[in-house]
Amino acid sequence: MNKNDSIYQTIAEASNSLKIKLIKQLGDDDKNQIIELSKELGPIFGNDAILTISNIDKYFNKNTYPFIAEFNNHIIGFIIGVPLEVFSEESWSHYDINLGKNNTIYTYIYLMKKNYRKQGGYSKTLKMIYLNWCKKNNYNYVTGHVKSGISKKFSNSTKVVKIFPKWYNSKYPFEYYRRPL
Ligand SMILES: CC(C)(COP(=O)(O)OP(=O)(O)OC[C@H]1O[C@@H](n2cnc3c(N)ncnc32)[C@H](O)[C@@H]1OP(=O)(O)O)[C@@H](O)C(=O)NCCC(=O)NCCS
Repeated sequence: MNKNDSIYQTIAEASNSLKIKLIKQLGDDDKNQIIELSKELGPIFGNDAILTISNIDKYFNKNTYPFIAEFNNHIIGFIIGVPLEVFSEESWSHYDINLGKNNTIYTYIYLMKKNYRKQGGYSKTLKMIYLNWCKKNNYNYVTGHVKSGISKKFSNSTKVVKIFPKWYNSKYPFEYYRRPL
């Protein structure tokens, strides 16, 4: 193992070369791959959403749960969950009645590389493993902000808590949803 390799736990390994890892400490090579991949967020959320060497620690640190999907040992996507309480200084978190109950994981970023979306079950597998992990670790809810209308496809019990007409640089309204686990 190279000293710049990530420290991680393998959560799942599928037969088709797909591997899901929970990152404990991000190594240099993975860091570069994540930064490169995050450039796909720019056209959707604006350039401030892109991960850089100076802001990446905000997403990968001891308080966050970043799950990466690797295909043939290359990172093709990731989903980052963070305990809601980490955002207690953000005004949006106060709309959630569960703030302070330590029962909710907020989905910070969910990204799949363009040519791996809507096929092969890569995004679905990553998300399913993330939700199962949250449940197994005694969380009761997963929440997040998504483009308005998206969360109704998640599960029948998913609720829209609040609509944010303006969400960063997106041209569309966003909704804050809560999904019971
Ligand atoms: C969001 C993204 C990862 C979904 O991947 P995809 O391959 O396009 O998605 P699929 O249609 O196969 O859906 C995969 C699952 O993700 C869910 N999903 C879709 N968009 C989602 C979102 N914004 N947040 C959470 N879950 C989402 C789907 O409902 C589906 O869930 P299911 O397995 O329970 O049915 C992908 O479209 C992407 O990277 N988009 C650009 C980044 C982005 O907008 N991220 C979301 C906000 S950070």
